[in-house]
Amino acid sequence: MLGVISNHAASSGKLGSITLVGAGPGDPDLLTLGALKAIHAADLVIADRLVSKEILALIKSELKIAQKYPGCAHDAQNEIYRWCAEGLVEGKKIVRLKIGDPFVFGRGGEEVLELRKFGVEAKVIPGISSALAGPLAAGIPVTHRGVANRVVFCTGMGKEESIPDIPAYHPEQTCVFLMAVGRLKALTDDLTKGGYPSTTPVGIIERATTPHERTIRGTIEDIVILASEEKIRPPSVIVVGEAVNVLSKQEKHHQTIIPFRRSAMSLESLSKACEPSGEGSES
Ligand SMILES: C[S@@+](CC[C@H](N)C(=O)[O-])C[C@H]1O[C@@H](n2cnc3c(N)ncnc32)[C@H](O)[C@@H]1O
Repeated sequence: MLGVISNHAASSGKLGSITLVGAGPGDPDLLTLGALKAIHAADLVIADRLVSKEILALIKSELKIAQKYPGCAHDAQNEIYRWCAEGLVEGKKIVRLKIGDPFVFGRGGEEVLELRKFGVEAKVIPGISSALAGPLAAGIPVTHRGVANRVVFCTGMGKEESIPDIPAYHPEQTCVFLMAVGRLKALTDDLTKGGYPSTTPVGIIERATTPHERTIRGTIEDIVILASEEKIRPPSVIVVGEAVNVLSKQEKHHQTIIPFRRSAMSLESLSKACEPSGEGSES
């Protein structure tokens, strides 16, 4: 796959570098400073398809966007490796920009191993995972004393589209499912078969922390109907457990659409606010 690199190594030119960077869930205010610095320093950014357009707008270098859709993920992943190989051979400083955190259901580990086969050690900068930011954006604390004493992160879709087992039921457990909204009916069936009470609260957060964020709340029994009525789509995070309603003020927990609340300060105003104004300075 990275044969270009081995040929290059044979001719002993200097390779570029690669950094896997977590872009967070979508809101540019949730990028880490490390991520922002790496993006600004890059010659080439190879971004996941789901990286928000607000974050893509911060990229001034060459940008390639992976077209990874269900059914063609393998080919798209190979294309990413080819882009990485070409950039490395050209001596570029590459940022591989991945949604959320690179090591949470993002193939980040696989990419590190693939690059390592060719003697390239990727640097990795963590990002805020949608598994944490999604629930938080909807006002759901994934742990809460007396309500949830553990949290389990699960994927709804395993390797080669296999279906992973669901975690055993525990009344004080929060389960956060990624990549599962497309098979919500099958998931709720599995949860029921697995002994989860049908009244267990379920929240779904779609496009968390973006201007299109929406949240619905229901139970294992009715969430499929609610999601279908609201036409909930990926990318979405599904939260299952009593913690879903712990901060909810509604008496009825159905269909609470919470509009996105952007943080008051944009990146631009934040950097302006951090600039020394001179006012009140002693020098
Ligand atoms: C391939 S996984 C990558 C997860 C990512 N590494 C992370 O830590 O968030 C893609 C899944 O992440 C979830 N996801 C990513 N961004 C999201 C967002 N802004 N809102 C809701 N779910 C999101 C969805 O479940 C989506 O199907």
